[in-house]
Amino acid sequence: MNARLSSPPRAALMLSVALAGIAAASCTPGSQIGSTAQNAGPARAGGAGAFAPYDAQARRLLAQMTLAEKIGQMTQADHEFIKDPADVQRYFLGSVLSGGSSDPASGNNPRDWEGMYTNYQRIAVGTRLKIPLLYGVDAVHGHNNVLGAVVFPHNIGLGATRNPQLVQRIGQITADEVRATGPNWAFAPCICVPRDERWGRTYEGFSEDPQLVSTLGEAAVRGLQGRSLNDPLTVLASSKHFAGDGATSMGTGGPDKRFLDQGDARMDEATLRRIHIFPYKAAVDAGVGSIMPSYNSWNGVKVSGIRYLLTDVLKGELGFGGFLISDYRAVDQIDPDYKTAIEKSINAGMDMVMVPDRYPEFIRLLTELVNENRVPMSRIDDAVVRILRVKIAMGLMDPSWTPQPDAAARSRFGSAEHRAVARQAVRESMVLLKNDRGALPIRSGLRRIHVAGRSADNLGFQTGGWTVDWQGKSGEVMPGGTTVLAAIRKAAGSGTQVTFAQNGTGAAGADLGVVVIGEPPYAEGQGDRADLSLDPADAASVAAMKAAGIPVVVVLISGRPMILGPVLEQADALVAAWLPGTEGDGVADVLFGAYKPTGKLSYSWPASMAQIPINVGDADYRPLFPFGFGLTY
Ligand code: GLC
Repeated sequence: MNARLSSPPRAALMLSVALAGIAAASCTPGSQIGSTAQNAGPARAGGAGAFAPYDAQARRLLAQMTLAEKIGQMTQADHEFIKDPADVQRYFLGSVLSGGSSDPASGNNPRDWEGMYTNYQRIAVGTRLKIPLLYGVDAVHGHNNVLGAVVFPHNIGLGATRNPQLVQRIGQITADEVRATGPNWAFAPCICVPRDERWGRTYEGFSEDPQLVSTLGEAAVRGLQGRSLNDPLTVLASSKHFAGDGATSMGTGGPDKRFLDQGDARMDEATLRRIHIFPYKAAVDAGVGSIMPSYNSWNGVKVSGIRYLLTDVLKGELGFGGFLISDYRAVDQIDPDYKTAIEKSINAGMDMVMVPDRYPEFIRLLTELVNENRVPMSRIDDAVVRILRVKIAMGLMDPSWTPQPDAAARSRFGSAEHRAVARQAVRESMVLLKNDRGALPIRSGLRRIHVAGRSADNLGFQTGGWTVDWQGKSGEVMPGGTTVLAAIRKAAGSGTQVTFAQNGTGAAGADLGVVVIGEPPYAEGQGDRADLSLDPADAASVAAMKAAGIPVVVVLISGRPMILGPVLEQADALVAAWLPGTEGDGVADVLFGAYKPTGKLSYSWPASMAQIPINVGDADYRPLFPFGFGLTY
């Protein structure tokens, strides 16, 4: 069945559009992003037209290429597995990536990255046809691999802002900081539509609502790619992971098929289109240059090998004119025989393969497949033309092209200007779920505020996964960041004593207790959980604070809604701050009333594990807090 893409349920559409209106209206005017002044400018041509202007030049270049040079362009290796950088020339590699933990050998500062990137590019342009590399990184909430970068709220928080202009500005800044260190490709935005909070990638999604994902995903693409891809301060974006990554059933994914990640999305085509393919139309129309097919299966078949989805729907029906980049070793999962897996994926429409380690073997096998007529040369040529069109659009083939980062961009890396935008995003992402007895905003002139909780003074918990390391890590992960505790100390002022005990002891006699709890960092399947109850240590710190008989404010730093249990009753005020990133001051801005909370839930909040999955539009919909919920002062 070839049902055209239809919009999501009308109720959800109306609700999220209405909320977007509310949020946009409630966006603080003036210098704050959201007044669109910062983001005016013509939208880039999208869809099939996006890369057509570069087709002739790409085909002229293709005509000069050997099979080895063509297959090299289709091959992406990870820096951590390239033992000899000369392999870029030896195999005519078209692209290199740095995975979540794949940093320069010399260190992880901006200059280390610049040195690594320019070295690879110098080698790449030493080849016969002088075709520069696409260098990809997972800049999914800022240039999060690199020390000193501004780390923005993860997408779940941006979904709560309902502010596409802000999301576009964040994309712009992310591109600026990435280009300041060299790389020219971000594997972002993730436009998954997570439907089950037990999935470890829920926080990478803007929302459970496809319309909201579509709106913010488009804004992110426009921010990352700018008005022109050949602007040295923009990057190639990669909308991911196509399609149904957020739709898998519990017990079909993970290494032992007990969880969700990379599992099986079981649904009819109409549902897959309505919810999970829907956001890709706006991405394609916004001119996204690459799309990353997903690990998951659709009704038992690996999507990265389904020609109907990759070629007929995405490239045909939606008119996607860029190229498809596989996920990390995703091709390997298509068939137990690697050569057959490559054959199935390339013939399905995959254009570039994130190998990322055994690239000599990949190249040998794909060469054999062409020589054995199992992969037609026409498919190779189509893939290479798509890659070359994007590279030409990015200015990589211009005589003036240089790998040297823009000097001005270097000076803006981690700048106060960038941090101010991240701080606004933190403010607008916060959702006030409960506020009894006027616990918030925190009044001035208090004698003592007692702070507790594992997440109060831990930048690594605040930034979450995909920060410096793939899985993130605890502690002082990112120079230049501000923890929630440090922010509270600043906002409270000199007249108020701020004390801290992680377990909540020592609260007696304080005027107010603030307990900051949530989840340690994780990424992908390592974040899959069958039980989303709060950690016992967190529950205990809230109980200890409550036992002191003082008003208690609970701040939840998590990648998803969690099962609150007695904490809901014990808290006088409850705020969802999601994974706010480095700018903890944004949390204090709202707690102390410098700004009102305007965030609206972009996910339904379950009352119990028994309710999960629960999504807006469900027939029997009785969440603890509904999609779109959020109080203010
Ligand atoms: C990961 C993720 C994908 C990421 C890629 C490169 O496994 O699925 O989102 O872009 O590999 O790190």
